[in-house]
Amino acid sequence: MTYIKKDNDSVSDDIIWHNTTVTHDDRVELKQQRPVVLWFTGLSGSGKSTVANAVERKLLSLGKHSYLLDGDNVRHGLNKDLGFSDADRIENIRRIGEVAKLFVDSGAIALTAFISPFIADRQHVRDLLEDNQFLEVFVDTPLDVCEQRDPKGLYKKARAGEIKHFTGIDSEYQAPIKPEIHIETANKSIEECAEQVIQYLIKQEYI
Ligand code: ADX
Repeated sequence: MTYIKKDNDSVSDDIIWHNTTVTHDDRVELKQQRPVVLWFTGLSGSGKSTVANAVERKLLSLGKHSYLLDGDNVRHGLNKDLGFSDADRIENIRRIGEVAKLFVDSGAIALTAFISPFIADRQHVRDLLEDNQFLEVFVDTPLDVCEQRDPKGLYKKARAGEIKHFTGIDSEYQAPIKPEIHIETANKSIEECAEQVIQYLIKQEYI
């Protein structure tokens, strides 16, 4: 399978797709894994980054090639021009989808940890990829648990009206309807949550 250019009608006719001689298949064969995006979605404080981190650590110990794109970190660089309006969140996820697609093309397992609150945006990323290259991982932690954890003190600020458009408070979160992996974190250890993802990847022969 090679990297497939999908039509994008806003691209100028003067920009011509360049085919590379090292193919996706070459890279996949070298890495001995089926590249995929593990798209972690959930509320702030749900444990997306923590679980994704633990999964990446396990992948490393299994000799697998991965890269974790994390919301807070990406917003320090590539997406530092974006805020939390609906339009900015949509653009945030669009860019990350494109970056994750490049990682998959490189043969890597890309893990992304973004709230990504809107179903349509997550579907858009799924549509960018081939079948079986996108796995939605719902980090399902009830709002009251996230709020209790409040690792960055942001819920407290949002409740005090100091942060506007905070997901779960005054901005919507649309939960996945049929995620490939559904992790209920409230009564599980990080280790158990990470292992659930790894077992799925083994069973479906990604690794
Ligand atoms: S997303 O909605 O666009 O997918 P993203 O995952 O990149 O969000 O960033 C979320 C992180 O930004 C949160 O974990 C939190 O630390 C911080 N943050 C700051 N302001 C907000 C806000 N208004 N809503 C949600 N998260 C916010």
